[in-house]
Amino acid sequence: MKSLIVANWKCNPTSLAEAKRLFNSVEKGVKDFKNVEVVICPPFPYLPMVGMASRSGVKLGGQDVFWEEKGAFTGEVSPKMLKDFECKYVIIGHSERRRNFKETDEMVNKKLKAALKIGLRPILCIEKMSQIKKGIKGFIKKDFKKIVFAYEPVWAIGTGKPCSIEKAKKMNSLFRKIMNKNVLLYGGSVNSQNARDFIKKAKFQGFLIGGASLNPQEFIKIVKNISKD
Ligand code: PGA
Repeated sequence: MKSLIVANWKCNPTSLAEAKRLFNSVEKGVKDFKNVEVVICPPFPYLPMVGMASRSGVKLGGQDVFWEEKGAFTGEVSPKMLKDFECKYVIIGHSERRRNFKETDEMVNKKLKAALKIGLRPILCIEKMSQIKKGIKGFIKKDFKKIVFAYEPVWAIGTGKPCSIEKAKKMNSLFRKIMNKNVLLYGGSVNSQNARDFIKKAKFQGFLIGGASLNPQEFIKIVKNISKD
C-alpha cells in the first residue's frame, strides 16, 4: 500500500518566488520514488501557481476549508474553490486552528461534511478519541471510510520532540478500534531520522509534516526513506 506524505507549509514561505522554488525542488526530488503519494498544502494564495506546476504527480491540498458554498463570510474559502484550484485533499481541524481560531468539533464536523460532498479528501487532525467521535458525528460508513486521520499530539508539533514510537504505536491501536481501514498518519516533529520507525514499528501509513516540509532536502529524504520497500 502507498504511504501518504503531506506537507503542511502553514503560513510559509514569505514570498511567491520562494514558494515556487520550494515546490519545484520537491516535485523534482520526489518524482522517481514509488509507493508514496506526496501532497503539498501551501497557503491559499499560492495554490494557483503551484497548481499549474502540479501535473507531475505531486498532489495539492488546502490547509483549511469553510463549510458553506458561498455568501457573506468574509475571509473564508469554499470547498469548490479548492476543487477549482486542483486540490485533492484538505487538512481539517489542525490543532493550530483549534487553539488560535477557536475551531470546535462542531465546526470540524461541518467542514468534513462539506469537503466530502464536493469530493475533497479530508485529513482530519486529532489528538484524542473524543475529537474523532464528535468530528464524525452523523457520518455514514461509506463517507467515514474516505477520511484520512492524522494523529498529532500538540506537544510534539514544532517542538523537535516527537512522540515516542511506543506511545505512537499504542495510540495507533487505540484509534484502530474505530477506524477500520482508514488511512492514519502521524504528525509532530517528523524528520528523516525518525520517519521510518513511525511506519515500520508504529504502523502509521504516512505523515503530516510541518517544519521539515520547508526544507526540500530534508523533505525529499523523508520521502526517500519511506519509499524503500
Ligand atoms: P511539525 O508540524 O512537523 O513542524 O511538528 C506538524 C504539523 O503541524 O502538522
